[in-house]
Amino acid sequence: MNGNLQLQHFILNEQKKFPYAKGDFTLLLLDIALAGKIISREVNKAGLVEILGLTGKENIQGEQVQKLDEFSNSTIVNILSRNDTVGGCASEEMADPVYFHKHTNAKYCVIFDPLDGSSNIDVNVSIGTIFSIYKLLNDGECTENDFLRKGKEQLASGYIVYGSSTMLVLTTGEGVHGFTLDPSLGEFLLSHPNMKFPEPSKRYYSVNEGNYKYWDKGVQRYVDHLKNDEKPFTLRYIGSLVSDFHRNLIYGGIFFYPLDHKNKEKPKGKLRLMYEANPLSLITKNAGGLSTDGKNEILDIKPEELHQRVPLYIGTKSFVEEAMSFINSEEK
Ligand code: AHG
Ligand code: MN
Ligand code: MN
Repeated sequence: MNGNLQLQHFILNEQKKFPYAKGDFTLLLLDIALAGKIISREVNKAGLVEILGLTGKENIQGEQVQKLDEFSNSTIVNILSRNDTVGGCASEEMADPVYFHKHTNAKYCVIFDPLDGSSNIDVNVSIGTIFSIYKLLNDGECTENDFLRKGKEQLASGYIVYGSSTMLVLTTGEGVHGFTLDPSLGEFLLSHPNMKFPEPSKRYYSVNEGNYKYWDKGVQRYVDHLKNDEKPFTLRYIGSLVSDFHRNLIYGGIFFYPLDHKNKEKPKGKLRLMYEANPLSLITKNAGGLSTDGKNEILDIKPEELHQRVPLYIGTKSFVEEAMSFINSEEK
């Protein structure tokens, strides 16, 4: 347990990797951790304060906005707006980025999904916050170009899962480390140093199989294989990406949300490149896993727009490679 190292000590050490960071990178990560603690507190008492339920509004993605989505979004934006090294931020819940023009010292921008898995809020199932940090292309000015970058340019990424305990999982380039919130101290303590997709591992697959009939043949054949293999895979699907991902990171497995033909004219994936796929893909890479959109590595995709959706295959490397061999084979 590394003597239960506190998050701030850990990040101060990590920051030495970035010559331009003079304490500000640590403060930024601590700000995100603070937002996580506030959201965690609110999630835990959600049933008590009538914060559950829909706001009656739709977000930019055309989805119903939950009250806790809004709360989480504004908590993160407010905290970042007080950090003068942040030039701007973009969120799944906001149509456009927010720019902090007064932050003339800005060095970073942040992209986040404030509350992932929010359809599970009302039923007490684990949900999470996902984030990415990029270094601004030019210090002191943040523009849309700072956000529209390949995932491999991320400086750091992570997620906070609000589960039976609250946990922050973080990568700053090398290695992935997990910190568990001790609620009595209000501190994140290093509980899972050097997380790696385990080998050998559980054979878990996580997918919304209710979409089977909308998938391409290759995806259908892959899922048939998972079930009919000599040693079939076990299906585990929560419906909160962050929770499904977290379980697979610890036990081993593959999560996928393939392109589907629900909309006949416009086949597409559901998950968002910038808010979900990229941050989890950096973690995956640094934990020895693999993530692709079915053809290319997620981290190599040049985004065309902020709210872009992608098919996603992510998890244990050998499982993702096997998935690719099925979905890219010629057989119809
Ligand atoms: P969000 O709550 O941020 O909109 O994300 C929901 C996502 C993701 O968490 C999950 O993996 C996926 O939607 C589940 O989709 P289905 O309900 O279609 O399975
Ligand atoms: Mn999400
Ligand atoms: Mn969300």
